[in-house]
Amino acid sequence: MSRLIVVSNRVPIPDEKGAAPAGGLAVALQSALAARGGLWLGWSGESRADDAIGPLKMLRDGNIDYALTDLTERDVEEYYQGFANRVLWPICHYRLDLAEYGRREMAGYFRVNRFFASRLLPLIADDDLIWVHDYHLIPLAAELRRQGVKNRIGFFLHIPWPAPDVFMAMPVHEEILSSLTAYDVLGFQTEHDRENFADCLARQGTGMRSGPGRFSVGDRTFTAKSYPIGIETEEFATLAQRAAETSLHKRMLQSLDGKGLIIGVDRLDYSKGITQRIDAFESFLKRNPDSQRNVTLLQITPKSRSEVPEYEAMQRAVAEQAGRVNGAVGTVDWVPIRYINRSLRRPALAGLYRMAKLALVTPLRDGMNLVAKEFVAAQNEIDPGVLLLSRFAGAAQELQEAVLVNPYDVEGTADAMARSLAMPVEERRDRWRAMMKTLRANDVFTWCDTFLHDLTTDQSERPTRWVD
Ligand code: F6P
Repeated sequence: MSRLIVVSNRVPIPDEKGAAPAGGLAVALQSALAARGGLWLGWSGESRADDAIGPLKMLRDGNIDYALTDLTERDVEEYYQGFANRVLWPICHYRLDLAEYGRREMAGYFRVNRFFASRLLPLIADDDLIWVHDYHLIPLAAELRRQGVKNRIGFFLHIPWPAPDVFMAMPVHEEILSSLTAYDVLGFQTEHDRENFADCLARQGTGMRSGPGRFSVGDRTFTAKSYPIGIETEEFATLAQRAAETSLHKRMLQSLDGKGLIIGVDRLDYSKGITQRIDAFESFLKRNPDSQRNVTLLQITPKSRSEVPEYEAMQRAVAEQAGRVNGAVGTVDWVPIRYINRSLRRPALAGLYRMAKLALVTPLRDGMNLVAKEFVAAQNEIDPGVLLLSRFAGAAQELQEAVLVNPYDVEGTADAMARSLAMPVEERRDRWRAMMKTLRANDVFTWCDTFLHDLTTDQSERPTRWVD
């Protein structure tokens, strides 16, 4: 079996693994890599002055070798905070209004990708499989090919791929699209994302479709398919069952004092629909006065990308909004929203999911959303809670038995909350069983095996017709 090299911007640093890494990428990849072993290269999270970048920091944990690189302060500003998170992220989440395009940031993005390639190059052996993850590193394969790397290289996009009109508003869309053609396999979260990508190729007029999921551009032929990412379904279910014994679980139950727990867990990000969700919760409380004092919304929201202005503004907005709702609706002995900005350890999170009657997973746009999947896996089959899920999360393609909502429709979401909390236990069980079946059939290990199977198998054949 070839060695697997994974490359991603964010890496769960071994020393800090106790705390849940913010973001689905790190969680999913860690499970997949721990099972197979391999090398994981990424950013150390440290930024230094230009002349203070040292050699790679090598660590080993279980059968994963980590190779961590520092970046310069300028790199972090231009590549991570700049192009990745102020251009690609908003564009891929349909927020053209928030995209701040600048040539300096774009040049920094390509420069740092070249730097990642130079760090990876000495570590690559001839038959290694290379798997690159997410929007930070789109041009990495093109940089590696330029340096003569012939290995099979795959790319998985954890976030949505937007419709052509949105994608083409980005000034460097041609470069981004053409650099993807250096990969052998391109993976998207959903069929919808893959179709958007194929439509972009067609609009650019450079691609040929050469069979189901196969494309040719110039002299390159590659696979582009959807591989919906999963979770460690059984392991997470076990974690949730065991959590009932922990002291946090007992303290939480005691503090609820019989009130129903509603839970939301998201990185603090404008794509997650947190402000619309709080509006919907307030509207639900006002329209259902009997529920007042009987439920509590626990919103767990670790801060994220705080140096990016849109995130800084959002931190203030959500804190003010939660405070306003608590002030307007709360009473001396009831706080409607418990709002915390810390990430919790995974066992604690699993226990809280299991305790909750309802999870609110209402992003305005999301690649997949693994919170939705983990919530389902954590439920007690006798008395499962309800998943209220945005139609615009990738997870909604698979979890059709969730209560699906349009998060822009605040009153509709408020009504769905009321319906979910009143749902009879038989219906909750039927929905849960169907969703759990899906999660068991496509867990994170299946996701990893399916992608790597396609990456190892040479599927080349001659192109036959233009992309339509
Ligand atoms: O899962 C999507 C993602 O953007 C990852 O690529 C990223 O690591 C994670 O969310 C958290 O974001 P960040 O690394 O910027 O903290």
